[in-house]
Amino acid sequence: MAAAQKHRRLHKRTDICFTMAAVDSFSFLLREIGQACSCVIETLAFIGAFYIMKTSLTVASNTYSLIRLYFIPRLVSRPDLVKLYGSWAAVTGCTSGIGKSYAKELACHGVNVVLISRNKEMLEALAKDIEDSYKVETEVVVADFSRGRQVYPAIKKALLGKETGILVNNVGVFYDHPDYFANLTEDKIWDLININIGAANMMVYMVLPGMVQRKKGAIVNVSSMSSYHPSPRMTAYSASKAYLDHFSQSLYYEYAPQGIFVQCLCPAFVCTTMSKYSPTLSKKSLFVPSADEYAHQAIATLGLSRRTPGYSLHSIQGFFAQIIPEWLWRGAAGREPRSPHPELRTRLPGEAATPRGALRKLRWPGVLLKTPPQPSNETDLGNSALALHHLSEMEYRTQLLNPE
Ligand SMILES: NC(=O)c1ccc[n+]([C@@H]2O[C@H](COP(=O)([O-])OP(=O)(O)OC[C@H]3O[C@@H](n4cnc5c(N)ncnc54)[C@H](OP(=O)(O)O)[C@@H]3O)[C@@H](O)[C@H]2O)c1
Repeated sequence: MAAAQKHRRLHKRTDICFTMAAVDSFSFLLREIGQACSCVIETLAFIGAFYIMKTSLTVASNTYSLIRLYFIPRLVSRPDLVKLYGSWAAVTGCTSGIGKSYAKELACHGVNVVLISRNKEMLEALAKDIEDSYKVETEVVVADFSRGRQVYPAIKKALLGKETGILVNNVGVFYDHPDYFANLTEDKIWDLININIGAANMMVYMVLPGMVQRKKGAIVNVSSMSSYHPSPRMTAYSASKAYLDHFSQSLYYEYAPQGIFVQCLCPAFVCTTMSKYSPTLSKKSLFVPSADEYAHQAIATLGLSRRTPGYSLHSIQGFFAQIIPEWLWRGAAGREPRSPHPELRTRLPGEAATPRGALRKLRWPGVLLKTPPQPSNETDLGNSALALHHLSEMEYRTQLLNPE
C-alpha cells in the first residue's frame, strides 16, 4: 500500500516536471520565433513604408503634372509658337479627327499650316476654312501614305523653302474593329506599317535637318495609350504605337540638346471616325472627348511634356493604366465588347464565318427589344463591326416579317 502511494507520488512529480519542461521550452520557442520574426517583420515594414512612399511620390508627381499641363496654361498667356518653333507647321492625316482639330489649333496660334492627307476636296475645304477663320497661310499636299516611298518627293517639294518649325505626325489607321492578328488582311498589315510607322519616320527625316540648322523646332508624334502594355486584339496597331513611343523618346534624347522638342502624345479614346466601331466610343463622354476638345488641351502641353496622354482625364486614366498589372490590362483589352448578340463576337482565326445560332438568338425579341440596334447604312458607316450588327438586324427584321 505504502509502496503504491510512493509510486503514485513519484509519477505525479515526474508529470509536473514534464509539464514544466514543456512550458519552459514552449515559451522559449515562442521567444525564439519572436526574435527571428521581428527581423522579418521589420523588413516587411520597411518594404511597406518604401512602397507607400513610392506610391505617394508617384501620386504627388502626377498631380503636379496635371496642374502644370492642364491648369496653369489656362492662367498664363498662350505661348508664341511662331517665335518658339517657326512660322510653318506640317500636319499629316488632317482631313478629320485629331489631325484636323490640331491643324486648326495651330492656325489659331498664328502658325501657317501645310495640310497633308489623301482627300483633295476635304483638304481644300479645310484650307479655305483655316485661311478664312485664322488669317494664316496654308498649303495642301495630297498624299496617300499607304503607298509607301513614292509619296514623299511631293511632300518634300511642298516643304521646300518653308520654315517648318512644328511637325505633327498624326496620320494613323486602326483595324475596322478589334480583331485577331490572323484575321487582318495583308493590305491592312502593310497599311499599319506604312502609315503608322513609315510616315512618321520619313516626315521626321525630311524636316529634322532644317530644325537642327535653326536650332529650334517641335515634333509631335501621335501614339496611343494602347502602347502602354501589350494589347491583344489590337496587336499590330498597339505595337505600331509602341514603336512611335520609343521612337519619340530616343529622338528626344538625341535632339533635345540641339533645341528640338520631341513629344509623344498617347491619347486614350477620342470620339473620331477611328472609334466609330464601338457605339459607346462614337458618343462624346467625360473620358471620350471630341477631337476639338482633345486638340485644345493637347496643344497646351507642347513644350511642357515629352510624353503625355494630352488630355487631363486621359492622364488620370493613364496613371491607372501604368500601375495596373499587365494581366488586368490584357484582360480588359482582350475582352469582347458587350453586345446584345453574343454570337456575333469576333471570330477566332479559322472559325466559321457565319456564327451559327446568331439568327436563332436574334429571333428572341427580348434580347433585341432591350437594346435595339439603330438601322443605318453600312456603307456610310464604313465599319464592318457595325455593318455586321446592322446586317443581323436586317436579317432579324426579315425573319419577323417572314416567320417560318
Ligand atoms: N480616336 C482615338 O480614339 C485615338 C486614340 C488613340 C490614338 N489615336 C491616334 O490619333 C491619330 C488620329 O486618329 P483619329 O482618331 O483622328 O483618326 P481619323 O478620324 O480616322 O482620322 C485619320 C486621318 O488620317 C487620314 N488618313 C487615313 N489614312 C490615310 C492615308 N493612307 N494617307 C493619308 N491620310 C490618311 C484620314 O483621311 P481620310 O479622311 O481620307 O480617311 C484622316 O484625315 C491616329 O494616329 C490614331 O492612331 C486615336
